[in-house]
Amino acid sequence: MRFVLFAAVLIASPALAQKPAKPAPAPHPGAEVYQNICQACHMANALGGEGAGKIPALAKNGALEAAGYPIMVVTGGKNAMPWFRGALTDQQISDVINYVRSNFGNKYKDKVTPAMVAEMGVPAPKGGMREQ
Ligand code: HEC
Repeated sequence: MRFVLFAAVLIASPALAQKPAKPAPAPHPGAEVYQNICQACHMANALGGEGAGKIPALAKNGALEAAGYPIMVVTGGKNAMPWFRGALTDQQISDVINYVRSNFGNKYKDKVTPAMVAEMGVPAPKGGMREQ
């Protein structure tokens, strides 16, 4: 009897250990770009702050509603905000804009595509430092 119980536990235990593993949610493709580049100025929580100048919050930012605006700013730069056309691909630019527009309290549902970045974005400056 004791042996049977022991065997039953042995048989049952691997089944117990094999709880279906929850797949980790795939990270947003724009999150990496944000963390590597944008967060240095706009901060991890996207609240911005005071650095060399005033860095605006991207969190809960109504200026992001019209997708064309962040496309213009990220591709063309604006005052102390550097331009990223040429440094990032159109895919990376659309990914990071989609990430910011759907996180940090922003809930804009429409998606920016690389084609929109190509069409609406400011071209990389000719003869600029970033031209290769
Ligand atoms: C070197 C610091 C710096 C980096 C890096 C940076 N930004 Fe900015 N960003 C700024 C500053 C400064 C402004 C404000 C520009 C102004 O209006 O004068 C700004 C403005 C913006 C705006 C417009 C916000 C508004 O309310 O008008 C958006 C959108 C934005 N940044 C997105 C990004 C994204 C996305 C990245 C990463 C790809 C990024 N920024 C990287 C400094 C930075």
